[in-house]
Amino acid sequence: MLNDSIHYANGSLHCDGISLAQIAERIGTPCYVYSLPRILHQLQRLKAAFQAIPSEIHYSAKANANLDILRALIQAGVGIDTVSGGEIWRALQAGCPAADIVFAGVGKTKAEIDYAIDEGVGWINIENQQECAWIQAAATRAGRTQRVALRLNPAERAATHAAIATGHAEAKFGLSATSIRELMQRAERYPALDFCGLHVHIGSQLSEPSATGRAIDAAGNLLAEYPQLATLNIGGGFPVPYRQDSELSTVEEWVASLQPYLLRLQLREAVKIEPGRFLVADAGVLLTRVLYCKRQLGQTTLIVDASMSELLRPALYGAHHEIVPLNEVEKASRETMQVVGPVCESTDVLLPQVALPPPQAGDLLAILTVGAYGMVMASNYNARPRPAEVVVYRNGAESGWRLSRAREDWRSFYPGESQDP
Ligand SMILES: Cc1ncc(COP(=O)(O)O)c(C=O)c1O
Repeated sequence: MLNDSIHYANGSLHCDGISLAQIAERIGTPCYVYSLPRILHQLQRLKAAFQAIPSEIHYSAKANANLDILRALIQAGVGIDTVSGGEIWRALQAGCPAADIVFAGVGKTKAEIDYAIDEGVGWINIENQQECAWIQAAATRAGRTQRVALRLNPAERAATHAAIATGHAEAKFGLSATSIRELMQRAERYPALDFCGLHVHIGSQLSEPSATGRAIDAAGNLLAEYPQLATLNIGGGFPVPYRQDSELSTVEEWVASLQPYLLRLQLREAVKIEPGRFLVADAGVLLTRVLYCKRQLGQTTLIVDASMSELLRPALYGAHHEIVPLNEVEKASRETMQVVGPVCESTDVLLPQVALPPPQAGDLLAILTVGAYGMVMASNYNARPRPAEVVVYRNGAESGWRLSRAREDWRSFYPGESQDP
């Protein structure tokens, strides 16, 4: 989706006043470009939406762990939500104080728990009873008391794509209300754990908030039973429009409808939120170049140099990302086609149907709204180098850009591999 940062100016696509064609020529394609001003704008919107509800934000690094993005958000006062030892390391590398890191995840290893506690993370979100013993051992060894929140599985099916719903009974995530009650009865077995909150995240890209409201109510019942639980973490899931004609609620409407649920909990500590997608999705574009155009069997197929290796979401979930030319061309001269990547998989279709100006090899295109769950899911499948990342920043009234991460080189793909036959 185009927005205040990413839009056409004088017929060519710009990001905060910087020509995207110029970046593509300098850096090559495929290349992710992120607008830091757009990310900070989304952060301000979210903070304003929560104005009447004391809240604390932990950005979900799984959406996009680009170092410049992490740094910008940390400098703006945001903590980081992590799901692995690698993400904790990344958050620390970006300058996040350990106390502002939340460590969550359905299958934390013992080594990851040891690392999290040695580094002094602020919170651990617990998803099964056995984790408690490992946290107890690590915290005792480190001579610390570890703040923990219990992740509730509220048995609520979120209104979203089935692949990104996480709060229904069959989901692998969280603890049932019964398991939480059992655990709380045995809490004294874990003196190094400070059980001080609940966590509930029922999915991503939640198209309407009623299931989240019911999940907050379910958490509220438990909070009332256990007064030591001082706060609730409601996770992420704030929806993002991916289509021009989207009728999704705005974040302001979404938070307003949850406000009564949150205020009646009368939490003693600020509610925690873990936005990922909402902060970064529409700040990112993936620049790609046309390789070939094939017209046969009644179909036009545009083969570009980006693929499922750089952007997995269309192949993984059938996710929709609009594709637009970097140079705006009259609508009258458009042709309907599918846009595909070079990877040897029939699912490597970036967009099954789009009307674009009749393409020529070398033309530049932008795949929109790819700032979340884009680069973080990129792989070396087909031995393809992961793409470059560029950030656009604002310095006073001026915009600038820099290469944030260089394109990989396929000669460096297999470090540490034994050369022995
Ligand atoms: C526990 C948790 N918190 C936060 C998020 C971020 O969600 P979103 O990107 O939809 O805001 C996720 C992603 O699924 C998650 O699993």
